[in-house]
Amino acid sequence: MALSRIACVGAGYVGGPSCSVIALKCPHLHVTVCDINADVIDAWQSDTLPVHEPGLQEVIEQTRKHGNLTFTTDVHAPLARAQVIYMCVDTPPKAYGTGKELAADTCNLERAVRNVAHVENECRKQGENITPKVLVIKSTVPVGTCHIMRDILRQQGVHNIAVASNPEFLAEGTAISDMLDPSRVVIGTDPEDQHARILLSTLYSNWIDAGRIVHVDTKSSELCKLVSNALLAQRISSINCVAALCESVGADVAQVSRTAGMDPRIGSKFLNASIGFGGSCFRKDVMSLANISMQNNLRTESEYWRSIVLINEHSKRRFVNRVVQAMFGNVRGKRIALFGFAFKKDTGDVRDTASADIVSWLLEERAIVGVYDPQVQEEDMRSEVRKSVERNSIDLIDQKNLHHHETSHDAARGAHAIIIGTEWDEFRGRAGHEHDVNYGQLYSTMSKPAFLFDGRRVVNAQELRDIGFVAYVIGQ
Ligand code: UGA
Repeated sequence: MALSRIACVGAGYVGGPSCSVIALKCPHLHVTVCDINADVIDAWQSDTLPVHEPGLQEVIEQTRKHGNLTFTTDVHAPLARAQVIYMCVDTPPKAYGTGKELAADTCNLERAVRNVAHVENECRKQGENITPKVLVIKSTVPVGTCHIMRDILRQQGVHNIAVASNPEFLAEGTAISDMLDPSRVVIGTDPEDQHARILLSTLYSNWIDAGRIVHVDTKSSELCKLVSNALLAQRISSINCVAALCESVGADVAQVSRTAGMDPRIGSKFLNASIGFGGSCFRKDVMSLANISMQNNLRTESEYWRSIVLINEHSKRRFVNRVVQAMFGNVRGKRIALFGFAFKKDTGDVRDTASADIVSWLLEERAIVGVYDPQVQEEDMRSEVRKSVERNSIDLIDQKNLHHHETSHDAARGAHAIIIGTEWDEFRGRAGHEHDVNYGQLYSTMSKPAFLFDGRRVVNAQELRDIGFVAYVIGQ
């Protein structure tokens, strides 16, 4: 039967943008995105989308005109009628019990798959026509999950649904262009599900060259997502180790990474030294890889993967130690302005952001921290700091010493130091850019000596020193 209907379970960061692009590029198909969260569905139907991504609004508007993309809280009818069902539910780090903070929590995925089986069995009971379907797992999952989900379906008496893996490689801020023009589309199927392989391949070939559609088995597909993120994270931890060494020996990490990256075998991307990587995926996926290695009795390999995260934690800690040391060994009662709280620029997302740990360690040192970020909401900032405090087992934190400011000026006024935590363009302080921070003006309102610690390498340190700042740039 020709493909005409697609359903997607999960209207979050992956499901929404992915299905919008599928609907845009396949106007002959009807795509329905389901979620039990009515607020999220309402938002997808409104003019204020729940996900902020460049180009997303335009894609949604086009699909609205065409009428082939629906968002709904009905997690029954769309599943019954679809030939392809995408699973885009969250798989966060497990926050309890066995594998706490290590394993990915697949309970939402399992529940969603059981619901698919339930819908299918209900249809059968009603005597409805049962068609072959493909369940496509887009969520990032431990290796072997497709096999488990296939088993669950079969144990529930469902034999007409094939299971495929199709991991997501979207990065925040570029999700739409990543989906429109992906580096690769990975389709994982097992020998018994070859029709799923053909169906998905045909779907993506509506806008993607055959050369970029890669066919592998489900376990390799699941693993390739974890490995891709682990290799990207590994590069950042490696360059952050180099940054520490550069500071000690008087070299410049930018010069080292640029020249090393000119070797095409190495490449230049993901070699920017920073206070540490953040975001909802890198730590979770590297730890998941470490956990899977451990479960397979690969202790040394597991420790290798874990060390990527340990170095990341250490990089953030080293940065705070450097701040405290530079400010005469104590920051108690001193005001510190943090510029940037999001985990990277062009997003308001704060999940696992390095800035949260920087804040909580500064609060532990009894500093008074004032945060300014052009996109981050105060309640998101406070809640992420609370998580960091808990994760790092920090005692005696007084959130009264944590403030949120609407402008960089308000944050810096009277402060002893500025820390740059996110690489927003406006923090570069470029002459002639009216939206950029004017460090000369800020300096005049700060306590002296005025320190500036750049954890993202966005400023020109010499220019700041010329103004009068005591400036420190990571890796210099
Ligand atoms: C990452 C991957 O890049 C995507 O391919 C993947 O699909 C996604 O995770 C996911 O699994 O969902 P994302 O977390 O949105 O995407 O952001 P990245 O651009 O990868 O940045 C992650 C972190 O690394 C940020 O905190 C960023 O500031 C930091 N980073 C990045 C550095 O510190 N240095 C660099 O050179 C690059």
